[in-house]
Amino acid sequence: MSEMIPRVELSPLTLADEDEFCSLVEASAELHTPWMQLPTTAEDFQVWMRRFADGTNRAYLIRVRETGAAAGAVNINSIIRGRYQGASLGYAAFAPSAGRGYLTEGLTLVLRHAFEDLRLHRLEANIQPANKASLALAQRLGFRYEGMSPDYLFIDGAWRDHERWSITAPSPWTPDPSLPEV
Ligand SMILES: CC(C)(COP(=O)(O)OP(=O)(O)OC[C@H]1O[C@@H](n2cnc3c(N)ncnc32)[C@H](O)[C@@H]1OP(=O)(O)O)[C@@H](O)C(=O)NCCC(=O)NCCS
Repeated sequence: MSEMIPRVELSPLTLADEDEFCSLVEASAELHTPWMQLPTTAEDFQVWMRRFADGTNRAYLIRVRETGAAAGAVNINSIIRGRYQGASLGYAAFAPSAGRGYLTEGLTLVLRHAFEDLRLHRLEANIQPANKASLALAQRLGFRYEGMSPDYLFIDGAWRDHERWSITAPSPWTPDPSLPEV
C-alpha cells in the first residue's frame, strides 16, 4: 500500500472543522458506541480542542483526496519525550465512509508522520478485547500484542480492561534531539 498513491491525506484538526466534525460524530453514534466518545456540540468541541494547544496531544482528520470528505479522526495522545519517545493513538472512522479501508490508509500515514516527522519511537493502541474492528485494524497496521492492562481507561462510565498493542519505529530511524545520547 505504501507504494501506491494513498486515497487519503492527513490534515491537522482546527477550530474551522467544528461543524463538519460535530455532524460526522453525531452521524457515527452507533459505530462509536461504546468504544469512543467525541464532541458533538460547539461548546464541547472548543473545550476538547484546548488539549491540542501545547503539542503534547495532536489531532488529525483523515480526508478522502477525491472528495475532501473527512473519513475519520486520529489523535496522537500523551507524547512523552526523554527516554520514552512514545505516544498513544486514538482513532475513529466516520460512519458515512467506514469500512472502505480509509482508516487503514490514513493510519499508515499517521505512523509514517509519527516516526519520521515527530521522530517518535513507539506508538501504543489500547483496545478493549471486545472491540474486534479496532483489534483487526491494529493488527493490519503491524502493531504487536503486548498484554492486558486491567482497569486501564475510563470508558462509557467504567474502568475498562484494555489490550495493549504497540509498534516501534522502523530502521533506519532518526531520533529527536530530546533523546539522550547515552
Ligand atoms: C475501529 C474503526 C476505526 C475501524 O474503521 P474502518 O472504517 O472499519 O477501517 P477500515 O475501513 O480501514 O477497515 C478495513 C475494513 O475495510 C475493508 N476494506 C474495504 N475496502 C477496502 C479497501 N479499498 N482497502 C482496504 N480495505 C478495505 C477491509 O477489508 C476491512 O474489512 P473487514 O473488517 O471486513 O475485513 C471503526 O470501527 C470505528 O470507528 N470504531 C469505533 C471507534 C473505535 O473503536 N476506535 C478505536 C478505539 S481503540
